[in-house]
Amino acid sequence: IAKTYDYLLKLLLIGDSGVGKTCLLFRFSEDAFNTTFIATIGIDFKIRTIDIEGKKIKLQDLVSFNLDTAGQERFRTITTAYYRGAMVSHSFDNIRNWIRNIEEHASADVEKMVLGNKCDMNDKRQVSRERGEKLAIDYGIKFLETSAKSGINVEEAFFTLATDIMSPLNRKMVSSLTCIISSYGTFLHV
Ligand code: GTP
Ligand code: MG
Repeated sequence: IAKTYDYLLKLLLIGDSGVGKTCLLFRFSEDAFNTTFIATIGIDFKIRTIDIEGKKIKLQDLVSFNLDTAGQERFRTITTAYYRGAMVSHSFDNIRNWIRNIEEHASADVEKMVLGNKCDMNDKRQVSRERGEKLAIDYGIKFLETSAKSGINVEEAFFTLATDIMSPLNRKMVSSLTCIISSYGTFLHV
């Protein structure tokens, strides 16, 4: 079978439940959006091949997961908390934990990016763009506000990440690089 790509990249989206990881993958791979919230139990798999500087880059295993993909009980606790408004801005504070998690479990040279998703809901904004930018600068990580719903910056996010990994400096290690996107819901999802 002829190879249909030049490079193979693996992507991982991590972040709190409800921030929009599945929707970002769905927007990127199918260019579609769903308003129904069905928490991912386990992981989502998507694939898309993109073109950068004439090279075909296959983004495989676009994985979205939350670390506590626990059962119904945990899920109910989370959604209840969301509905009570108790978790406002919580997913943002949690980014530091997600980054620590990456540092503990992934190789040091892994490409990272922070996404502030749901930027279409500006009237319900809980975290300012400046706060997001500041956090990203603290960690030396790129930052983009995205919307899986309207599509704002979704292509940019994945292409920027893939381009950074494909940069001449990194190129020789491409196959061993895993990139991780940490996304946070700037807003309540209800
Ligand atoms: P888990 O699978 O539980 O980890 O959650 P998740 O991060 O995959 O969240 P998901 O993508 O399922 O989105 C949760 C809810 O937020 C859904 O109701 C989506 O419709 C909504 N949502 C996701 N992205 C956006 C966005 O960019 N804008 C708006 N307005 N809603 C969004
Ligand atoms: Mg999901």
